[in-house]
Amino acid sequence: MNIVVTGASGYVGSTVLRALTEAGHGVKGIARHADKSAPAGVRWALGDIRDMDLVEPFRGADAVIHLIGIIREIPAQKVTFEAMHVGSTQRVLAAMNTLGIPRLIQMSALGTRPRAVSQYHRTKWEAEQLVRATSHLKATILRPSLIFGGHAPFFDMLGSLAKLPMVPVPGDGNTLFQPVYRGDVAALICALLEDSGTAGKTMEIGGPDRYTLNQLFDFMGAQAGRPHPPKMHLPLGFVGAVARLSNVLPVPVTPDQLAMLTEPNITDDDQWHQWVDQPTTLASGHKK
Ligand SMILES: NC(=O)c1ccc[n+]([C@@H]2O[C@H](COP(=O)([O-])OP(=O)(O)OC[C@H]3O[C@@H](n4cnc5c(N)ncnc54)[C@H](OP(=O)(O)O)[C@@H]3O)[C@@H](O)[C@H]2O)c1
Repeated sequence: MNIVVTGASGYVGSTVLRALTEAGHGVKGIARHADKSAPAGVRWALGDIRDMDLVEPFRGADAVIHLIGIIREIPAQKVTFEAMHVGSTQRVLAAMNTLGIPRLIQMSALGTRPRAVSQYHRTKWEAEQLVRATSHLKATILRPSLIFGGHAPFFDMLGSLAKLPMVPVPGDGNTLFQPVYRGDVAALICALLEDSGTAGKTMEIGGPDRYTLNQLFDFMGAQAGRPHPPKMHLPLGFVGAVARLSNVLPVPVTPDQLAMLTEPNITDDDQWHQWVDQPTTLASGHKK
């Protein structure tokens, strides 16, 4: 098949490109910058999803995998959740509609729901709703929890914090997460391309184990030889006040991210095990 991948140069996209290429698909990546380490044969259409023409890059595609998303807004550059999640999905759907491309894999995120606390999740929900409202489309929506493997930006940040003399933890650190291996997510996406029986479905994707934030710090600390780094639990009101300065100061967490760090991110949905029957554990996959 000929597949277009938006966000192809990103953390998830680079793994998806490899999986698609290994499966023998023709692949075109869309991003502002090409990934120089992408497999040979991957073609690129470079531009900003907010204003680039998508019809020509999409022409000839059998399916689109829409991965573009952001975790932090940059208002000065008009990089907003609304533009990057809702606006980009609108543009992808319009181009697919123009060309009659039938199949879409839409990347959402676990926790996405109407009236979610974070703007990240609310705009992911709006994007999902646009996809659901597009009647001719065979679309499958994926909602992963935190994704790990290789240099996952979130896990790298935990690892850096775990090396500090005292690890700053927002609140009690008991929020549960269910991290999933990026190779498994890529394998799932590849399998779903061939299986349009999942059209119209939304799948939540959690890994085999659940960890509190405290346990994730312990895990990443252990990788650096500090299995139980001492932790300083900071009141949420205080962290929230610091996070509100993130627009003007290099604060590691925004109010939106803080909201997501303090609500459980777990699922009992195991539909995806039909395609990936032995999901990779954090212990075995975090360095791969
Ligand atoms: N990583 C996780 O733990 C996780 C968990 C759940 C869901 N997700 C979702 O999975 C998707 C991929 O996440 P990721 O971690 O791979 O993100 P990422 O590493 O930040 O990658 C984002 C991709 O989007 C591209 N991009 C960003 N702004 C763009 C623009 N204006 N125009 C065109 N391309 C643009 C980036 O390339 P350029 O910078 O070169 O443009 C890059 O290829 C997102 O939708 C995210 O919400 C991720």
